[in-house]
Amino acid sequence: MAILIKGGTVVTADHSFRADVLTEADKIVAVGENLEAPGGAEVIDAGGAYVLPGGIDPHTHMELPFMGTVASEDFFSGTTAGMVGGTTMIIDFVIPSPQQDILEAYHTWRGWAEKSAGDYSFHVAITWWDETVKAAMETLTTEHGVNSFKHFMAYKGAIMCDDEVLVNSFTRARELGAICTVHAENGELVFHLQNEILKSGITGPEGHPLSRPPEVEGEAANRAIRVAQVLDVPLYIVHNSCIESLQAITRARNEGQRVFGEVLAGHLLVNDEVYRDPDWDTAAAHVMSPPFRPKEHQEALWRGLQAGMLQTTATDHCCFCAPQKRMGHNNFTQIPNGTGGVEDRMHVLWHHGVNSGRLTMNEFVAITSTNAAKIFNIYPRKGSISIGADADIAIWDPEKERTISKDTHHQNVDFNIFEGMTVKGINTVTISQGKVVYQDGDVRTEKGVGRYVDRPTFAPYYQAVNRQRKAKAPAAVDRM
Ligand code: URP
Ligand code: ZN
Ligand code: ZN
Ligand code: ZN
Repeated sequence: MAILIKGGTVVTADHSFRADVLTEADKIVAVGENLEAPGGAEVIDAGGAYVLPGGIDPHTHMELPFMGTVASEDFFSGTTAGMVGGTTMIIDFVIPSPQQDILEAYHTWRGWAEKSAGDYSFHVAITWWDETVKAAMETLTTEHGVNSFKHFMAYKGAIMCDDEVLVNSFTRARELGAICTVHAENGELVFHLQNEILKSGITGPEGHPLSRPPEVEGEAANRAIRVAQVLDVPLYIVHNSCIESLQAITRARNEGQRVFGEVLAGHLLVNDEVYRDPDWDTAAAHVMSPPFRPKEHQEALWRGLQAGMLQTTATDHCCFCAPQKRMGHNNFTQIPNGTGGVEDRMHVLWHHGVNSGRLTMNEFVAITSTNAAKIFNIYPRKGSISIGADADIAIWDPEKERTISKDTHHQNVDFNIFEGMTVKGINTVTISQGKVVYQDGDVRTEKGVGRYVDRPTFAPYYQAVNRQRKAKAPAAVDRM
């Protein structure tokens, strides 16, 4: 079936222009003025609204087994909630347990994700190291479309990588043309501080941010950056929450290193006062890592996005309901870490980014889809309104408003970190694979139609890094 979107303003990461958009099957087949609707086409009158590439959330954890429980949002409910907010693709994470065969873990996650309503892909975490892991990384890149490997520098005693694993995995990733990603927090310091804080008698959620101060994140971000610099591998740092990690990225980028930074909608808009809420459940609902930070960090993160030092926005959507959070009722270190937002990301970023003048509409598109598509090498299939691109589209009404609430959201979780926030400028129609899956409150997603998206290795920036690497390759002194 064809869809003709008439009368809208197409907004891409490059520019905005009046144009109709025609899709056929799952692709965009024409973009231009006064397009004719082919026979049988569904015509959507955009009525002056904006026509954007569907959002890509490059950091989610649907149905993740974590900290003794399983995230409440599954791949169907989570991708559906994303569609309501204009997000048509997620990149989730395969996280093998230490010693688990990583290909087995990969296939397990692929099985869970078969219920997805929208397209998805997987970063694969390297949680331990031996020759079989090294071999599996090649299989993942050559046979399974994986081009990014994740490293948790926190969660000691569980999935944390030490420097030995980082060095081995980064080296291997470079050989394979895959980008390295890190959760940057010094897990050793977190472990130490958690014990000190518990000993001091603080057991509630207010202990969580105290055990993970910004310096702990800055140290790890800087360490990962330096390791990547020495090994000449491109690096992507997930969920930067503070000035310290932003400064590390800024320095590295100013020195010419290929380092990319992601920021979560939550870290831009929620501050650390939430952990001192008198209601335990409310405070615990905000326990995620890195924690929400004092206000001055938020303005710095916005400026980091504006300056191009941070390129992507995500949610780290990882939902736990109150009974799950209560697993840590007398010990904050046992509260499952994670918060939601896949449905709200684009709305809150438009409202607080575009409406406030922090971002242009084109920058909004760049940070909600295009940049992620480029970094993870699926551009212009994703993150673009152009002929041949996937027909994943959000139609955005800049005048409409919506008040965010756990009572009306589609996310399978009993809390919303943006509760009560009224946003102006919302998604009204979502098209995924050339089908309308959401229109003005009517959700039409289908379980299992989402496709796994293969991501090729050696993205363009990688080729540039390799050319520089070649040019500066050391040579032995020939002493005859
Ligand atoms: O608290 C968080 N962020 N939970 C999900 C796992 C992670 O660290 O990304
Ligand atoms: Zn396989
Ligand atoms: Zn993380
Ligand atoms: Zn995460």
